Amino acid sequence: MIPEQPTLPGLKAAAAGCEACDLYKTGTQTVFGEGAVHAKVMFVGEQPGDREDVEGKPFVGPAGRLLDEALVAAGIDRTRVYITNAVKHFKWKPAGKRRLHQKPNAAEISACRPWLDAEISLIKPGILVLLGATAAQAMLGRDFRVSTQRGQFIERAGLPLMMATVHPSSILRAPDDESRELEMAAFIRDLQRLATRLKG
Ligand code: URA
Repeated sequence: MIPEQPTLPGLKAAAAGCEACDLYKTGTQTVFGEGAVHAKVMFVGEQPGDREDVEGKPFVGPAGRLLDEALVAAGIDRTRVYITNAVKHFKWKPAGKRRLHQKPNAAEISACRPWLDAEISLIKPGILVLLGATAAQAMLGRDFRVSTQRGQFIERAGLPLMMATVHPSSILRAPDDESRELEMAAFIRDLQRLATRLKG
């Protein structure tokens, strides 16, 4: 249940007991958003990964390290932004000794939506950055395509200004060094556009 007068610690504590979908049964813990309470920018990923599930913090694993690198390159200070996910439990299936990431489905995304809405209402960011298709489609609808609309600023009534870009994990999955470098450069360009907007 969302507290009536939410604070960030209050929301985090309430979300820790969330059973709105079945993912709490297999995730280690709820991984709530983290960052500056008056952040001008909120980044929204898909869901915590294996590392985040263990540490209880968003974007601290390999995708988080890549995001950190891109933020530094774009001149954005991570300590001044807020970072969260559309879904706050790690969804996975066993693959030998490993836990293999599974994409959250529409029911899981909408079960978790009240937490994201509460974070947006509390932080009141000027800009939401949607990392990858899950976050972008959760906020902008199923027809939204990151491939064709990335980097654009999008206005929707009742919501902060939004910009969608790729998910850092997609850069990690690039087939070779050359395409990884190209994809990283394009990701940094999107973040630089964001940095320019923040200054202006
Ligand atoms: N991928 C995400 O979408 N979120 C995280 O927190 C980590 C990896």
